[in-house]
Amino acid sequence: MDKLSIPFAKVFIGENEHKYIKEVLDSGWLTTAGKALEFEKKFAEYVGAKFACAVNSCTAALHLGIDALGIQPGDKVFVPTMTFTASAEIIRYMQGDPCFLDIEYGTNLITPQILLDGIKKNPDVRFLVIVHYGGQSAHMDEIITICKKSNIKILEDAAHSFPSRLNGKMVGSFGEVACFSFYANKTITTGEGGMLVTDDENLHKRVKTMRLHGINRDIWDRFTSNVPSWEYDVIEAGYKYNMPDINAAIGLGQLEQAEFFRSERQKVAEYYFKHLSDIECIDLPICNVPYNDHAWHLFPIVIKGNSEISRHLFIEKMSEAGIGTSVHYKPLHRMTYYKERYNLSPSDFPNAEKTWMGNVSLPIYPFLKEQELEYICMAIKRILT
Ligand SMILES: Cc1ncc(COP(=O)(O)O)c(C=O)c1O
Repeated sequence: MDKLSIPFAKVFIGENEHKYIKEVLDSGWLTTAGKALEFEKKFAEYVGAKFACAVNSCTAALHLGIDALGIQPGDKVFVPTMTFTASAEIIRYMQGDPCFLDIEYGTNLITPQILLDGIKKNPDVRFLVIVHYGGQSAHMDEIITICKKSNIKILEDAAHSFPSRLNGKMVGSFGEVACFSFYANKTITTGEGGMLVTDDENLHKRVKTMRLHGINRDIWDRFTSNVPSWEYDVIEAGYKYNMPDINAAIGLGQLEQAEFFRSERQKVAEYYFKHLSDIECIDLPICNVPYNDHAWHLFPIVIKGNSEISRHLFIEKMSEAGIGTSVHYKPLHRMTYYKERYNLSPSDFPNAEKTWMGNVSLPIYPFLKEQELEYICMAIKRILT
């Protein structure tokens, strides 16, 4: 087979994204207005949440979410070690302290048992950032029950998990606060962007105020209502996190294709499961939900300790073959800032360590052709066996 070039991630922009962007440009109103409102409304409907607030990143959504949940300086927050730094840095923004938890090998999720063990060791923790890793929902029924009993508030980091379901319910509809990412390589994109959803009206009001400088009226309202636009009050020291209409226009077009994109990624996952399961020196990801309920943002394999090839060499050889890969993640307990500040030791995170020693994410996105998938699987077999 001729050498192919297969990037790790790819963006798909449909005709409607162009159409909606043109509408925004023609309107002469480029910041947050009608398109952002429409995107919020449609996104809330899609996930079955009462309220949605569009922002300029998932990090911003997480920051606004933990603020609205009422975190105070010195508060401790459970967060998985196997995640992107945004899940933990927002705790530091508020002068809180992350309390890192190990994950389950294979799903990279915090399980109810891991949470219970964490609570036993740290009964004073008051918040949990739960990451729906890779597109698969965490066990929210049990986790919500445990958290209610222990008086722990939940912030869902659903950066990977749109659209994703658990027992027939969409991630984003569990009634807590869920934050989604529309970064360029996510399941749907706005370039940069994020969305916070909740069923709690007071929380939503706080998020909307803090999203725009702590001003008691949003920009659109200031220029469309009868009250003069100059008349507003600042009721808090807020942030500048609103999503411009140009980004929302892209989001509206992407939203229309979200389920199609998801089902395309599922086909890729199914191909990998079928064609890679006989390679002894790798572990494939564990899927505990029906395939249709998984957003399939990532397909992380683990090259086991008994392999003759290191992860580093594997990635190099895949790259030589023209195939892009990535690593999700180097766990946070290994990152200098967290390791030194909290004196963290790898021995406290055995599953994350076992994963980290060999984790590699394979390309997974719509329109990967059968020929490309065959090429990827053949390269993996050639390198590893
Ligand atoms: C688990 C997780 N949380 C949060 C984020 C932050 O998302 P954003 O780039 O939209 O701020 C990311 C981004 O990759 C992520 O993977």
